[in-house]
Amino acid sequence: MNRKTVIDSNTVKLYDTVKRYNTVLHESACNMRIIAIANQKGGVGKTPTTVNIAFALARAGHAILLVDLDPQGSLSEYFLADQADIQEVTVYNALSDLQRIEPLSLTTQIALLPAHDELAGAELELPSKVHGQKRLAKVLSFYQADYDFCLLDCPPSLGILTINALASAHQVVIPVKTEISAERALKRIKNTIKDIQESDLNGQLTVWGILPTIFDSRKAHHKEVLEALRFKYGEEVYQEPSRETTKYNDATVLKVDVSALDKALGVYWDTLAATLVEGGRGK
Ligand SMILES: Nc1ncnc2c1ncn2[C@@H]1O[C@H](COP(=O)(O)OP(=O)(O)OP(=O)(O)O)[C@@H](O)[C@H]1O
Ligand SMILES: [Mg+2]
Repeated sequence: MNRKTVIDSNTVKLYDTVKRYNTVLHESACNMRIIAIANQKGGVGKTPTTVNIAFALARAGHAILLVDLDPQGSLSEYFLADQADIQEVTVYNALSDLQRIEPLSLTTQIALLPAHDELAGAELELPSKVHGQKRLAKVLSFYQADYDFCLLDCPPSLGILTINALASAHQVVIPVKTEISAERALKRIKNTIKDIQESDLNGQLTVWGILPTIFDSRKAHHKEVLEALRFKYGEEVYQEPSRETTKYNDATVLKVDVSALDKALGVYWDTLAATLVEGGRGK
């Protein structure tokens, strides 16, 4: 074997190693997991759930992109207070022009694409645009390499914004308030999810599960509703409901996540977020 052959084979090995390394880097760079927090019913805790999952994922070391998909702008208001309404560049611009807008840095690990009432215009305009149901998927592709998780806080409707969220998500978390209307609300969102899974829109969408929220164990009807959900949906219902407490309200006022006010609540969200990191639960 002459010297030239040795150098050549080493170079080839080195080249292969670099190529493999680049592939791994590329794959991990394109791995942003998109999670929609959706239920067309209002006031079921979608926004607090989004916020607290985001902080739990951040505590676990991940980079998070939050997307406010609600024209009410509650998620944006949570972090930006009265600055939310005066944002000039919002999710609306990203969806209308199919462009990457610069996320607002909330912490070193959490960033936000904000929204305000201008987004209501998208409900009217998107249906007549080409691929109007897939525009968010396209927009989110611009952020693939920058974040580990993207959380979509959906509006209380099954309009085109929620459809865009479900069309772009890998998983959907369904918060359900443990009150009498829970089952009816669930039936509607689950039918929509089924349609999206079975159509060309997003065959890969999986349901992480149903998250019972604002649960008060002192109320008999809350316990009954929880039991009925478990009976009907079995394992799909997350084992530990998110309990009602004024600390969620306090956290909103203080612009923190609930772990800052109650360590046990932090552990609750850390445990829940761990199932998302594992990519577990649901079908
Ligand atoms: N365990 C809990 N989980 C979530 N929210 C809770 C909980 N306990 C109390 N709350 C309170 O319940 C309310 C529910 O949140 P919110 O109204 O933002 O829900 P939402 O589904 O995002 O509403 P919308 O559909 O209008 O966007 C908040 O005021 C929150 O402080
Ligand atoms: Mg909300």
